[in-house]
Amino acid sequence: MNENRKDVHRETLTTRQGHPVTDNQNIRTVGNRGPGTLENYHFIEKISHFDREEVPERVVHARGAGAFGYFETYGKVGDEPVEKYTRAKVFSGAGKRTPLMVRFSTVAGAKDSPETARDPRGFAVKMYTEDGNWDLVGNNLKIFFIRDAMKFPDMIHAFKADPASNVPNPQRMFDFVSRTPEATHMITFLFSPWGIPATYRHIQGSGVNTYKWVNDKGDAVLVKYHWEPKQGIRNLIQEEADAIQAKNVSHATQDLYEAIARGDFPEWELYVQIMEDDYHPELDFDPLDDTKLWPEDQFPWLSVGRMVLDRNPVDFHAEIEQAAFGTGVLVDGMDFSDDKMLQGRTFSYSDTQRYRVGANYLQLPVNAPKAPVHSNQHRGQMDFRNPKESGESPHINYEPSMIGGFQEASKEERPPHRPAYNAAVMSEPIDRPNNYGQAGETYRKFADWEREELIKNLSEALAVCDKRIQEAMIGHFTQADENYGRRVKEGIEKKMKEIEQMGTESKAPGREAGISKYGEGS
Ligand code: HEM
Repeated sequence: MNENRKDVHRETLTTRQGHPVTDNQNIRTVGNRGPGTLENYHFIEKISHFDREEVPERVVHARGAGAFGYFETYGKVGDEPVEKYTRAKVFSGAGKRTPLMVRFSTVAGAKDSPETARDPRGFAVKMYTEDGNWDLVGNNLKIFFIRDAMKFPDMIHAFKADPASNVPNPQRMFDFVSRTPEATHMITFLFSPWGIPATYRHIQGSGVNTYKWVNDKGDAVLVKYHWEPKQGIRNLIQEEADAIQAKNVSHATQDLYEAIARGDFPEWELYVQIMEDDYHPELDFDPLDDTKLWPEDQFPWLSVGRMVLDRNPVDFHAEIEQAAFGTGVLVDGMDFSDDKMLQGRTFSYSDTQRYRVGANYLQLPVNAPKAPVHSNQHRGQMDFRNPKESGESPHINYEPSMIGGFQEASKEERPPHRPAYNAAVMSEPIDRPNNYGQAGETYRKFADWEREELIKNLSEALAVCDKRIQEAMIGHFTQADENYGRRVKEGIEKKMKEIEQMGTESKAPGREAGISKYGEGS
């Protein structure tokens, strides 16, 4: 007899139909040696549910960790009342707290890939505001590789493993990047120690793309969001990351979970940068270009609130894996800027979530707003609304209606922001690409040890690439800063000599073999 059954405090195991399970160890058989019988209801339900336990992993940012907490507004933006710029209620009333959840992630690796990867870290926040949900889907680095959504699928294909061998290969990434000069700035961050944050608790966050804030007159400004960790920022050099990875592929998830479990709650301050919504001819870059930083001396960081994470998930799958964030999820008082990456992203998120989680993904507790939902978007698979509780009219599931159902909110209370346009429709790049200026500034701003590490990491990765790719990349770095280009060139030459000297032995399993010239010239 099972010892557990003596324990009065433990609930009885049941099937999903609520039937008590008296034997969870043995399938039903003809005699105790088998064969099995087909009416084994409990066994067949158990196995067939197990067969369906996983949802598809995210096409990007598959590896992640998450937690819950709150945002506390200061009611001000810097020294000014926040209402001057936005009517979003999440920012009004100093001291007001809004519940939230956060998911941190890496980008290119699969669901259980090592968290020591050289990769941007995702920093996605979902706030359950009184006006419905607000998602801020950002990264730790403040800029991005590309500025046009059309390039995203190709970029991700190039960054993920070779489709034939399923082996990651830096040549694929650099092949794409060498034809994408706007990525020079991001590559400069990524191959420096900033490309391997030590933990999730020690990363910054940024919305990267530009949004708008809209006030109660309907006037808008451009806004960029930044999270600053109160724990400080900590990055790793490659050697440190390799040592961690040899022992633990989940160190960042573990660090976040254990910190929250012991009451050491991580905290971030939220800052915004504000700019008038204009072409800004005085700038040498387009303010909507997400490969650029907005210079802090011209556009200072203004604090608006703080975020604390104080609860771990109870169930990772239900609360973190099924969490669905999107750049379209804005509240009243916020709007989209004309940033064309942002428009591309905004389509992509809810589209993938309808496939990844299902048409009714917004009904899952982690995704459902805490504000009332009065929508006529019903039915579909797994629609588990409780019509009695939802306040829905039993007969009127359409709008407009003279006899019942929901009605539109008043526009007078929420004056719309109405940007005007007068331009031809076209498929063209932007006017002020300035692909190298800020990349050079970032290179020069790094501390010596960060620059050393950058050159070493780039040289190692590029040494195994096709000569045409090496030359193109050296060209980009040289345009950013002459010293940068020269040092990468020398670094590649040195590394290639080392590889040559190692001769055929280097083909043995190990680091060098892992970055072989797979697919060269193809
Ligand atoms: C996740 C698309 C650019 C940050 C995703 C997902 C898609 C996607 C399809 C998976 C979502 C899911 O399965 O729930 C795109 C497209 C982009 C783009 C098409 C460009 C056109 C960016 C940029 C950032 C970013 C610039 C950084 C600001 C994230 C984050 C996640 C994510 C943090 C993970 C969200 C989570 O934790 O569930 N993206 N993305 N993406 N993306 Fe993007």
